[in-house]
Amino acid sequence: MSDEADQIEGEQVARKTPYERLGGREVILAITNRFYDLMESDPAYAKLRAMHAADLGPMRESLAGFLTGWSGGPRDWFASGKCMMSMHRGMPIARETADQWAAAMARAIADVAPADRVMADAMAGVLEEIAGSMVPVEAPVEASAD
Ligand code: HEM
Repeated sequence: MSDEADQIEGEQVARKTPYERLGGREVILAITNRFYDLMESDPAYAKLRAMHAADLGPMRESLAGFLTGWSGGPRDWFASGKCMMSMHRGMPIARETADQWAAAMARAIADVAPADRVMADAMAGVLEEIAGSMVPVEAPVEASAD
Protein backbone atom coordinates (compact mmCIF):
# COMPACT_ATOMS: atom_id res chain seq x y z
CA MET A 1 0.00 0.00 0.00
CA SER A 2 1.30 3.51 -0.79
CA ASP A 3 2.12 5.96 1.99
CA GLU A 4 -0.85 8.04 0.91
CA ALA A 5 -3.22 5.08 1.06
CA ASP A 6 -1.80 4.17 4.49
CA GLN A 7 -2.48 7.68 5.70
CA ILE A 8 -6.06 7.70 4.38
CA GLU A 9 -6.77 4.35 6.02
CA GLY A 10 -5.22 5.60 9.28
CA GLU A 11 -7.44 8.69 9.24
CA GLN A 12 -10.56 6.60 8.64
CA VAL A 13 -9.73 4.39 11.62
CA ALA A 14 -9.07 7.48 13.76
CA ARG A 15 -12.51 8.91 12.89
CA LYS A 16 -14.34 5.83 14.16
CA THR A 17 -15.31 5.49 17.80
CA PRO A 18 -13.91 2.55 19.79
CA TYR A 19 -17.51 1.24 19.79
CA GLU A 20 -17.54 1.15 15.99
CA ARG A 21 -14.03 -0.29 15.78
CA LEU A 22 -14.96 -3.10 18.16
CA GLY A 23 -17.98 -4.08 16.05
CA GLY A 24 -20.84 -2.16 17.67
CA ARG A 25 -23.79 -3.55 19.60
CA GLU A 26 -23.41 -7.15 18.49
CA VAL A 27 -19.82 -7.40 19.73
CA ILE A 28 -20.44 -5.53 23.00
CA LEU A 29 -23.36 -7.85 23.76
CA ALA A 30 -21.29 -10.92 22.91
CA ILE A 31 -18.45 -9.79 25.20
CA THR A 32 -20.84 -9.01 28.08
CA ASN A 33 -22.68 -12.31 27.78
CA ARG A 34 -19.43 -14.27 27.57
CA PHE A 35 -18.16 -12.41 30.66
CA TYR A 36 -21.18 -13.41 32.77
CA ASP A 37 -21.24 -16.96 31.32
CA LEU A 38 -17.64 -17.33 32.51
CA MET A 39 -18.50 -15.81 35.89
CA GLU A 40 -21.37 -18.28 36.29
CA SER A 41 -19.54 -21.39 35.14
CA ASP A 42 -15.85 -21.13 36.09
CA PRO A 43 -14.92 -21.58 39.78
CA ALA A 44 -11.88 -19.35 39.11
CA TYR A 45 -14.35 -16.44 39.45
CA ALA A 46 -16.27 -17.81 42.44
CA LYS A 47 -15.53 -14.89 44.78
CA LEU A 48 -16.62 -12.39 42.16
CA ARG A 49 -19.77 -14.41 41.44
CA ALA A 50 -20.63 -14.56 45.13
CA MET A 51 -20.77 -10.75 45.32
CA HIS A 52 -23.49 -10.58 42.66
CA ALA A 53 -27.23 -11.23 42.90
CA ALA A 54 -28.51 -14.70 41.98
CA ASP A 55 -29.99 -13.44 38.72
CA LEU A 56 -27.28 -11.98 36.49
CA GLY A 57 -29.84 -11.02 33.82
CA PRO A 58 -30.08 -7.36 34.87
CA MET A 59 -26.27 -7.15 35.05
CA ARG A 60 -25.92 -8.45 31.50
CA GLU A 61 -28.07 -5.57 30.32
CA SER A 62 -26.52 -2.96 32.55
CA LEU A 63 -22.87 -3.75 31.81
CA ALA A 64 -23.60 -3.93 28.07
CA GLY A 65 -25.31 -0.53 28.32
CA PHE A 66 -22.41 0.95 30.24
CA LEU A 67 -19.76 -0.42 27.84
CA THR A 68 -21.78 0.83 24.87
CA GLY A 69 -21.87 4.45 26.05
CA TRP A 70 -18.37 4.32 27.52
CA SER A 71 -16.86 3.21 24.20
CA GLY A 72 -18.62 5.92 22.20
CA GLY A 73 -21.93 4.25 21.26
CA PRO A 74 -25.49 5.25 22.26
CA ARG A 75 -25.47 6.76 25.76
CA ASP A 76 -28.83 5.56 27.13
CA TRP A 77 -27.19 3.99 30.22
CA PHE A 78 -25.57 7.32 31.18
CA ALA A 79 -28.76 9.27 30.40
CA SER A 80 -30.43 7.56 33.37
CA GLY A 81 -27.94 9.41 35.61
CA LYS A 82 -25.99 6.36 36.78
CA CYS A 83 -22.32 6.58 37.70
CA MET A 84 -20.43 3.31 37.53
CA MET A 85 -17.53 4.39 39.77
CA SER A 86 -19.82 5.77 42.52
CA MET A 87 -21.79 2.51 42.52
CA HIS A 88 -18.65 0.56 43.35
CA ARG A 89 -17.18 3.03 45.82
CA GLY A 90 -18.93 1.51 48.83
CA MET A 91 -18.12 -2.08 47.85
CA PRO A 92 -15.42 -3.92 49.78
CA ILE A 93 -13.57 -5.04 46.64
CA ALA A 94 -10.48 -7.13 47.40
CA ARG A 95 -7.49 -7.18 45.04
CA GLU A 96 -8.21 -10.87 44.33
CA THR A 97 -11.79 -10.07 43.27
CA ALA A 98 -10.70 -7.16 41.07
CA ASP A 99 -8.18 -9.51 39.43
CA GLN A 100 -10.97 -12.05 38.83
CA TRP A 101 -13.07 -9.32 37.16
CA ALA A 102 -10.19 -8.24 34.91
CA ALA A 103 -9.23 -11.84 34.05
CA ALA A 104 -12.81 -12.83 33.14
CA MET A 105 -13.20 -9.70 31.02
CA ALA A 106 -9.87 -10.24 29.21
CA ARG A 107 -10.92 -13.83 28.51
CA ALA A 108 -14.36 -12.76 27.27
CA ILE A 109 -12.79 -10.22 24.89
CA ALA A 110 -10.25 -12.80 23.66
CA ASP A 111 -13.02 -15.40 23.11
CA VAL A 112 -15.23 -12.99 21.14
CA ALA A 113 -12.09 -11.86 19.27
CA PRO A 114 -13.07 -8.51 17.74
CA ALA A 115 -11.36 -8.12 14.36
CA ASP A 116 -9.64 -4.90 15.44
CA ARG A 117 -7.05 -6.45 17.75
CA VAL A 118 -5.48 -3.14 18.69
CA MET A 119 -8.78 -1.81 20.03
CA ALA A 120 -9.69 -5.14 21.65
CA ASP A 121 -6.37 -5.17 23.55
CA ALA A 122 -6.80 -1.52 24.51
CA MET A 123 -10.27 -2.25 25.89
CA ALA A 124 -9.02 -5.17 27.98
CA GLY A 125 -6.08 -3.10 29.27
CA VAL A 126 -8.13 -0.07 30.29
CA LEU A 127 -10.83 -2.20 31.95
CA GLU A 128 -8.13 -3.97 33.95
CA GLU A 129 -6.89 -0.56 35.15
CA ILE A 130 -10.43 0.50 36.12
CA ALA A 131 -11.07 -2.74 38.01
CA GLY A 132 -7.77 -2.29 39.86
CA SER A 133 -8.70 1.28 40.78
CA MET A 134 -11.81 -0.02 42.58
CA VAL A 135 -9.80 -1.74 45.30
CA PRO A 136 -10.09 0.59 48.27
CA VAL A 137 -6.76 2.01 49.40
CA GLU A 138 -6.01 1.20 53.04
CA ALA A 139 -6.03 4.30 55.19
CA PRO A 140 -2.42 5.13 56.04
CA VAL A 141 -1.46 4.49 59.66
CA GLU A 142 -1.08 7.88 61.30
CA ALA A 143 2.23 8.59 62.98
CA SER A 144 1.81 8.84 66.72
CA ALA A 145 2.20 12.33 68.15
CA ASP A 146 4.49 11.27 71.00
C1 HEM B 1 -13.25 -4.69 40.41
C2 HEM B 1 -14.10 -5.70 40.53
C3 HEM B 1 -15.60 -5.51 40.48
C4 HEM B 1 -16.48 -6.05 41.36
C5 HEM B 1 -16.15 -6.96 42.53
C6 HEM B 1 -17.80 -5.61 40.96
C7 HEM B 1 -18.95 -5.95 41.61
C8 HEM B 1 -20.19 -5.48 41.29
C9 HEM B 1 -21.41 -5.82 42.02
C10 HEM B 1 -21.46 -6.70 43.25
C11 HEM B 1 -22.43 -5.18 41.41
C12 HEM B 1 -23.90 -5.25 41.81
C13 HEM B 1 -24.44 -6.45 41.11
C14 HEM B 1 -25.78 -6.93 41.52
O1 HEM B 1 -26.60 -6.14 41.97
O2 HEM B 1 -26.01 -8.13 41.31
C15 HEM B 1 -21.87 -4.46 40.27
C16 HEM B 1 -22.59 -3.73 39.39
C17 HEM B 1 -22.09 -3.18 38.23
N1 HEM B 1 -20.78 -3.19 37.84
FE1 HEM B 1 -19.23 -3.96 38.85
N2 HEM B 1 -17.69 -4.81 39.86
C18 HEM B 1 -16.36 -4.72 39.52
C19 HEM B 1 -15.83 -4.03 38.47
C20 HEM B 1 -16.57 -3.40 37.51
C21 HEM B 1 -15.99 -2.72 36.37
C22 HEM B 1 -14.50 -2.59 36.08
C23 HEM B 1 -17.06 -2.26 35.63
C24 HEM B 1 -17.08 -1.52 34.35
C25 HEM B 1 -16.01 -1.15 33.68
C26 HEM B 1 -18.27 -2.63 36.31
C27 HEM B 1 -19.55 -2.34 35.90
C28 HEM B 1 -20.69 -2.55 36.62
C29 HEM B 1 -22.01 -2.13 36.22
C30 HEM B 1 -22.35 -1.41 34.94
C31 HEM B 1 -22.89 -2.53 37.23
C32 HEM B 1 -24.41 -2.39 37.23
C33 HEM B 1 -24.86 -1.17 37.90
C34 HEM B 1 -26.38 -1.10 37.89
O3 HEM B 1 -26.97 -1.07 36.83
O4 HEM B 1 -26.97 -1.07 38.97
N3 HEM B 1 -17.94 -3.31 37.45
N4 HEM B 1 -20.51 -4.65 40.25
